Amino acid sequence: MNGEKITISYIQRKKRDGKKITMLTAYDYFLAKMVDEAGVDGILIGDSLGMVVLGWESTTHVTMDDMIRHAQAVKRGAKRALLIGDMPYKSFDTAEDAVKNAARFVKEAGCEAIKLEGESYEAASAIVKSGIPVLGHLGLTPQTASEFKVQGKNASTAKEILEAAKRLEGVGCFGIVLECVPSELAEIITSNLSIPTIGIGAGAACDGQILVLNDILGLFDRFLPKFAKKYADLGAMAKEAISQYKQDVESVDFPKKENSFTMKKEELEKIL
Ligand code: KIV
Repeated sequence: MNGEKITISYIQRKKRDGKKITMLTAYDYFLAKMVDEAGVDGILIGDSLGMVVLGWESTTHVTMDDMIRHAQAVKRGAKRALLIGDMPYKSFDTAEDAVKNAARFVKEAGCEAIKLEGESYEAASAIVKSGIPVLGHLGLTPQTASEFKVQGKNASTAKEILEAAKRLEGVGCFGIVLECVPSELAEIITSNLSIPTIGIGAGAACDGQILVLNDILGLFDRFLPKFAKKYADLGAMAKEAISQYKQDVESVDFPKKENSFTMKKEELEKIL
């Protein structure tokens, strides 16, 4: 699939072919371009935006307008990846709101799908019926979680998540994010569904993986979840570069001649 636009059928074919699906979040033009050019299949404009970019304590403060503004920037940077807009807290309480807000991601930001959290069967079904592809999200659902802990650790809660995954498949979701569930449960869900599972803290048996981009790049320093892996420490590099700039300005090592402009001598004389 060289350079071609990633579609939902392509993502679903990967599951059938036993090939892993790659997804990351992104929230702005430049980093979305990096993710896209690296060949990642899908970009989620996640409501994690609220924490890693906007500096809120939780994702619940994120508005539809925040999401649309950032999704538009991502769209300008990403040409190939499948773009998925994350429905923020309280944006899909009724089927009517759900369809209206999902349509904003498509119309105003050019997203190709949306994701919504939890056992939101009515909302998911209404959005699918309106023609917009839906990615479900089960296990730990940060918008409504009272505690950030692994979900489905005992047989009865595990069965509930499995049944919820089947119901989301039944209402037409094209895939399901499984967050913070035991690997064994994720494996059972993955083999029980014909749609792909995308894991985040759900082990290696999922059909694909997603992580928060800022976590893997070291661009968020409040915490690093156990399930994430820091592939680079760009935060530390940025701090070092900024300190170097400050030092250079204070010691007049910057700007140098090559960073400056000059006037012709005769023009200069006229103003002296
Ligand atoms: O908002 C987000 O970034 C997410 C992912 C963690 C799946 O929902």
